[in-house]
Amino acid sequence: MILILILTAVNIYGLQIEDLVTYLPPFNMSDFNFSIYSGYLSITDSNQSFHYVFVQSQLNNLDNNVPLVLWLNGGPGCSSMIGFLQEIGPFVFLNDDDETLSYNEYSWNRAAHLLFLESPSGVGFSHNPLNITFNDSQTADHNLKVLQEFYSNYPEYQKNPLWLAGESYAGAYIPLLAQRIKKFNDLEVAVINLQGMMIGNGVTNLTHLPISQLIYQKQHQLLPPTFDISACEKNVTSEDCEDVNYDAWIITKRINPYDIYGYCYYEENELEDEEEWILHMKQFMMIHNDNIVKVTNHDLGVPCVQIDNIENYLNNQQVKQYLHVDESIQWFLCSKQHNKQFKYVSDPPLVMKVLQELLNYNLYNILLYNGDADSVVPWIDTMQALQKLQVTITEEWRPYYVKNNQLGGYTQGYSNKLRFVTVRGAGHMVPQNDRITAFYLFNQTLLGQAF
Ligand SMILES: *[C@@H]1O[C@H](CO)[C@@H](O)[C@H](O)[C@H]1NC(C)=O
Ligand SMILES: *[C@@H]1O[C@H](CO)[C@@H](O)[C@H](O)[C@H]1NC(C)=O
Ligand SMILES: *[C@@H]1O[C@H](CO)[C@@H](O)[C@H](O)[C@H]1NC(C)=O
Ligand SMILES: *[C@@H]1O[C@H](CO)[C@@H](O)[C@H](O)[C@H]1NC(C)=O
Ligand SMILES: *[C@@H]1O[C@H](CO)[C@@H](O)[C@H](O)[C@H]1NC(C)=O
Ligand SMILES: *[C@@H]1O[C@H](CO)[C@@H](O)[C@H](O)[C@H]1NC(C)=O
Ligand SMILES: *[C@@H]1O[C@H](CO)[C@@H](O)[C@H](O)[C@H]1NC(C)=O
Ligand SMILES: *[C@@H]1O[C@H](CO)[C@@H](O)[C@H](O)[C@H]1NC(C)=O
Repeated sequence: MILILILTAVNIYGLQIEDLVTYLPPFNMSDFNFSIYSGYLSITDSNQSFHYVFVQSQLNNLDNNVPLVLWLNGGPGCSSMIGFLQEIGPFVFLNDDDETLSYNEYSWNRAAHLLFLESPSGVGFSHNPLNITFNDSQTADHNLKVLQEFYSNYPEYQKNPLWLAGESYAGAYIPLLAQRIKKFNDLEVAVINLQGMMIGNGVTNLTHLPISQLIYQKQHQLLPPTFDISACEKNVTSEDCEDVNYDAWIITKRINPYDIYGYCYYEENELEDEEEWILHMKQFMMIHNDNIVKVTNHDLGVPCVQIDNIENYLNNQQVKQYLHVDESIQWFLCSKQHNKQFKYVSDPPLVMKVLQELLNYNLYNILLYNGDADSVVPWIDTMQALQKLQVTITEEWRPYYVKNNQLGGYTQGYSNKLRFVTVRGAGHMVPQNDRITAFYLFNQTLLGQAF
């Protein structure tokens, strides 16, 4: 018995030490009072392995009350390394053009441990050796297995309150993973201490999304007042509606869809070929018809978004060594699965169904937040979903204030531990656009405090 315990301990700490990150250029981790681990978590399903980065909190590490936050970026097919290096991590590229990392004063690890996962396994540095085509249900199964693998390697965090957070397509990943956790806990007597979820500009009803995008664009004068969107209001899956979308993308070509008042980075040739541009937008505006395989092959990068700094950084051999990732892999923001195509099938009706199921349990805090300058998953789309869910308003729409009592945005409280909040002037990547407000909302929510 004693022998087994010792062996287990050696094994556990062996893995942690192997994955310990000592240096993250230009930062020497010995200068900080928290550790970062990076490496792979493997599951036997199709021999997949998932790259993870675990960032310890700046709070006391022995305190089991410090929350653990699992962060997922969206896509589907985009890497959570942008969450780590651009949004909520301790070291970020503060400005689009920065070539070196800076310390992030508003890092979410000031309030929680952070686990970034490159999922599904075709994304970023993760391995999908059998080239499987992903779907929502199976991704949720995989994410649960990876989380269990994390706990078996880092058992000291098993008791900490767990929160799931992320943005965009993670609006599908997160509720589905939460549902898997609930089902697992029902069988195993609550071993995963899930407390809540925070979803930023998250997808809910993909079928409705194109309508919201068009209404939002009209409301913000990105389309001419005479622009007719009635074909989509009539039938969102019709070819006429598809044409309306294409026309809208051509008209709004140099507007950053993720941050309509922000800068749009582009290369001249990107905009010349209208058909290319439409294909490009189609992948990123998340237009899915039922059961259509979404093949992501992002030669053009994300429309209007500049991420050369992260791409250069993560493709640097020395950085790859520090992060203990497969050096033969070229990292892309959105896969391009290791120079192949990334395939994902969405199941649009599933997300709303699962969200309702989670709300019915009345067990988990759910925060839906939206940067109000995003046209990809506009705040009105989240509002539309809220109207369809069976919940009641318990606190009327009201402003909240941050940064010397300036307007932060608006919030509304609902039954079943649900809250909606907007972040004024922020785009799709809220924590990148407004670090102060995002951290404030995050910290208050973790602590169950009002804002
Ligand atoms: C980081 O700092 C430690 C302690 O000062 C030092 O021993 C180590 O060589 C440094 N690492 C690098 C890569 O500079
Ligand atoms: C997984 O990898 C192992 C070891 O390389 C191999 O023996 C096994 O056949 C693989 N499984 C599948 C499903 O490919
Ligand atoms: C770690 O350092 C930060 C920043 O200097 C400080 O706020 C925090 O209290 C420290 N944490 C611990 C556990 O000492
Ligand atoms: C997966 O795709 C890669 C690249 O196209 C190919 O080399 C490999 O053989 C494929 N693996 C399987 C199991 O089909
Ligand atoms: C998702 O993929 C799994 C594994 O390939 C398959 O068994 C399942 O039927 C798929 N689900 C849907 C909704 O397509
Ligand atoms: C999703 O949106 C479509 C299109 O507007 C609508 O027909 C459907 O009822 C919505 N589903 C839910 C669950 O709200
Ligand atoms: C919407 O358009 C699609 C594609 O043309 C068609 O299959 C479907 O029946 C239409 N739905 C309605 C309600 O007209
Ligand atoms: C998080 O919120 C608590 C309570 O509102 C506050 O005391 C604490 O200073 C906040 N943490 C940080 C890092 O700002």
